[in-house]
Amino acid sequence: MPERSVDLRSDTITLPTAEMREAMASAAVGDDVYGEDPTVNRLQEMAAARVGMEAALFVASGTMGNTCALLAHTRCGDEVLFESLAHMYVFEGANYAAVAGLGVRTLDSEYGAVKPEDLTAAMRPLDIHFPPTRLLCVENTHNNHGGAVLRPQELAALTEAARSHELRVHMDGARLFNAAVAAQVDVREYARQVDSVMFCLSKGLSAPVGSLLCGSRTFIERARRMRKRLGGAMRQAGILAAAGIVALERMVDRLRVDHEHAARLAEGLAGIEGLHVHMPPLPSNMVNVNVSDRGWVSRDLIERWRPLGILCNPRPPSSVRLVTNRHISAGDVDYVIGVTRDLAAAD
Ligand SMILES: Cc1ncc(COP(=O)(O)O)c(C=O)c1O
Repeated sequence: MPERSVDLRSDTITLPTAEMREAMASAAVGDDVYGEDPTVNRLQEMAAARVGMEAALFVASGTMGNTCALLAHTRCGDEVLFESLAHMYVFEGANYAAVAGLGVRTLDSEYGAVKPEDLTAAMRPLDIHFPPTRLLCVENTHNNHGGAVLRPQELAALTEAARSHELRVHMDGARLFNAAVAAQVDVREYARQVDSVMFCLSKGLSAPVGSLLCGSRTFIERARRMRKRLGGAMRQAGILAAAGIVALERMVDRLRVDHEHAARLAEGLAGIEGLHVHMPPLPSNMVNVNVSDRGWVSRDLIERWRPLGILCNPRPPSSVRLVTNRHISAGDVDYVIGVTRDLAAAD
């Protein structure tokens, strides 16, 4: 076993805090399918107020929140638009097709922010040959674009174009609070521009389980029906929601530290010969490192790092993704930079 463990695979590895565990142990609970769990109700009210929307629904995961959003915004046979590398398109088991029965088209972008003119160019005339395009999904921060933050003004330009084509807009905001902290805006600046937003409690915010889907009261009522259909209506879920309340109250401001650590890691690794660090214009808690100039593929770095206790996920063929989180200290960052410099020198 390596002496040190620096787990940079994801911010989903974060463990609940002692305060979360205490809140879970003493949570007042009831049957949430009857709407009688006071802790779930409180979390949902807090979440809706926090994003400035009418209502919120507690769901088991980000994927379930996104799936409920697809189902609640569309009908089978409609079409949804995703950015080409979107988590909802790439990593959610084709739920848009397998569960919601949707057609799909993708739009390319440089850092996750689709250009309004590209959206407009993709729109088709009303014609019985085409599925009706109903929904645009945006992701913020964008996982596959290195944690890129969508700025509120970029979102505004895109949503204006979407509205002019009568599209609804859903935001996959799994890391919405990272975006708001990095852009130094209130999360409402994002939420007021979209029809629905999903954010996760179980990533950098460190709760063990759960996400919130937020939107209008009518939309959330429909999403609640869809959550039931998916088997996601839970009973004494207040045990989980209690940790989520602590996450929202205590864990948002410290995301800034994760961003500082990511910037420090990026800067240090960028100084090592043969490593290329790709950072988006406005980064957050992720760092993508490309090793092709050393003649390596992703696995070559992963296998060198593993015995040193450093874990990360591949971005094949020749990149890795590092995600800072609550369990990564500045000392861990310096350790990674130091041992990687030694590895590169000895190679
Ligand atoms: C951008 C994004 N959206 C959605 C999800 C799905 O969240 P979950 O793993 O809770 O289903 C993830 C998970 O990593 C994500 O990164």
